[in-house]
Amino acid sequence: MTDDPDTPAAPEGGGPGADDLVAEIGRLEDDARVRVAAAGSADELRAVESDVLGKRSGFNGLRKRLGGLDAESRRTVGKVLHAATEAVGAAVIERRAVLEAAQRTEQLIDERLDLTEVLPGRPAGHLHLVTQAIQELEDVFVGMGFTVAEGPEVETDWNNFGALNFPPGHPARDMYDTLYVDFGGPGSTVLRTHTSPVQVRVMTGGPPPYYSVMPGRVFRSDTADATHMPVFHQIEGLVVDRDITFADLAGTIDAFTKAYFGGDFTSRLRPSYFPFTEPSAEFDIQRPDGTWLELGGCGMVHPDVLRNCGIDPDEWQGFAFGFGIDRLAAARHGVDDLRDLFTNDIRFLTQF
Ligand code: PHE
Repeated sequence: MTDDPDTPAAPEGGGPGADDLVAEIGRLEDDARVRVAAAGSADELRAVESDVLGKRSGFNGLRKRLGGLDAESRRTVGKVLHAATEAVGAAVIERRAVLEAAQRTEQLIDERLDLTEVLPGRPAGHLHLVTQAIQELEDVFVGMGFTVAEGPEVETDWNNFGALNFPPGHPARDMYDTLYVDFGGPGSTVLRTHTSPVQVRVMTGGPPPYYSVMPGRVFRSDTADATHMPVFHQIEGLVVDRDITFADLAGTIDAFTKAYFGGDFTSRLRPSYFPFTEPSAEFDIQRPDGTWLELGGCGMVHPDVLRNCGIDPDEWQGFAFGFGIDRLAAARHGVDDLRDLFTNDIRFLTQF
């Protein structure tokens, strides 16, 4: 706008007032530079920019006065004015770059993630000692070629007792302090007192051979003390095939003992009685220090049990065993009161 063709022409040469205007431009420029340099933030700089370069700025007022000059002076002063506003504009851009860089640095520091910081995090928890024992036992038996089977905790009297050769009123029923469930006819439904009814479910569920272990929760109306719980866990084993003998039972028990407890443990069988095995035995394991731990019961599957499950005992024979898991886990970890396993005190449980 220094050479507006619509502006009436003025006399040539630096007429009076031109020098004053140039000096004033110089002062405006100096003042503008000082204010731009002093702007401490992008917002402040924007305000300064509109003050010193905008419509109501000193430069703009001066620009309107150019019309009163002759053409030569107008060109000269116009050039100076143009140079001054360009210079102030450049100073604004430069200052803005500096302020933005500073703001970015500050933001980076504010938002920096301290990757060395260690936070406590959420504790993950772990499986219960008894669950761990069940899984370890399953692993050992699966490694020996067994499959894992399960049955319900609420059972029929037939599966828990009848099919296993305990007729109603049979004295062997007294070994089990049975909890009855108020369902069906009186005495027809029980909380299973052992995992042996799962043998019946396996044998009626498909044809032999069977090589199965059956872990699970069992119930007896015992008063809780250091070595008894009304709810505890057992694992059952069942093998039915052709030509299975008592030697297979003894060998399996010993192979399991060494696989689970270690090669320096041995096992022994002692004569015993269960209605569903014949002959029957208790099995104990011997620790390396020579002491014995009674583990569970076992025996050859009684022919009547096979018959009750629709299996011909002249063609198929087998053995079964069963033992408690809770006492085993407790003994292994030096827990001397079974109740500690089930009170769910986190200080106790986190040790395992
Ligand atoms: N079910 C028996 C018990 O709980 C243990 C056992 C299982 C005995 C299998 C022989 C065969 O005492």
